[in-house]
Amino acid sequence: MITVAQVRKAFGPVVALDDVSLRIAPGERVAFVGANGSGKTTLLRALLGLVRFEGRVTIGGSDVSREPEVALRSVAYIPQIAPPIEAPVGEVVRAHAALRGARDDETYARAHRLGLDLSASRAKRFRDLSGGMKQKLLAAMALASNAPVLVCDEPTANLDGEARAAFFEQLAERPKSAVVVLCSHRIEEVRQLVDRVVELRDGRVARDAPLADLLRELRAFRVEVALREGASNAEVFLRARAFAPCGTRRYAADVSQNEKLDVVTRLLRDHGGDVEDVSVVPVEDLSMARGVERGPRLHVVGAP
Ligand SMILES: Nc1ncnc2c1ncn2[C@@H]1O[C@H](COP(=O)(O)OP(=O)(O)OP(=O)(O)O)[C@@H](O)[C@H]1O
Ligand SMILES: [Mg+2]
Repeated sequence: MITVAQVRKAFGPVVALDDVSLRIAPGERVAFVGANGSGKTTLLRALLGLVRFEGRVTIGGSDVSREPEVALRSVAYIPQIAPPIEAPVGEVVRAHAALRGARDDETYARAHRLGLDLSASRAKRFRDLSGGMKQKLLAAMALASNAPVLVCDEPTANLDGEARAAFFEQLAERPKSAVVVLCSHRIEEVRQLVDRVVELRDGRVARDAPLADLLRELRAFRVEVALREGASNAEVFLRARAFAPCGTRRYAADVSQNEKLDVVTRLLRDHGGDVEDVSVVPVEDLSMARGVERGPRLHVVGAP
């Protein structure tokens, strides 16, 4: 469906993309992740033919640089930064629908589901909408176009919790063959949306793997700790390690294999007297055991 072959893009001395190659098959949902400045937006812009680059990108067999109007016919885009459009919202929606051969009431319905009442904002200038409202409108237009490929740059960054859930829901309703490509600097943001993660580092593909593999490594174990009364030092230690309260004097965190060893060793070494109970359970077991009473796999009782 999409091929990216040896793409390189430099802005003066800054190499934003360096020898990036990947293929995206119909039905795949892919996230580009990486630190600020790692090249995510530039890669999306290359996919959309919005920047000149070395190498080749094709969508549905058509080259985005040579025949953009053919290659991009099947693509809808939600940009990271909304363009400063002067026109009123109603006109923007109408023009977009006409361009896409779609109906504008579909955009109104999509926006409504995201918590945006377009009829009330119809006369407002697009640029005067709030950041979140702009993002909702851009998302509604992209979703309404029912394009086989949806490209989004940090699509939920400005959305509130409810709108985010509604956006996830609308993505999930898309046909199985539809492609979603998005980028985010936080895996947490996109874990419900994608099944494959491409990590960029300094413009290069540092890793390309199924989401499940990545999550397994990042949050492989749930560590739950019960403390004795007045164990304030141990509490400070756990909070500093991003443990969250989960009951009276109980704290829990999902950690990687390495973190698990480190946190349990230090906790027992430095605060062993404060600990009543530590349990470590693989996170996969937790999800399988949802609704079923679960017993810890590793159970350490009391101080060493
Ligand atoms: N139009 C431009 N002119 C000059 N440099 C640019 C331009 N666009 C991007 N860059 C540079 O290319 C590199 C990659 O930028 P890009 O916007 O792709 O990063 P990103 O991964 O999307 O970051 P963020 O998470 O902050 O959105 C950065 O060093 C950036 O400064
Ligand atoms: Mg970006």
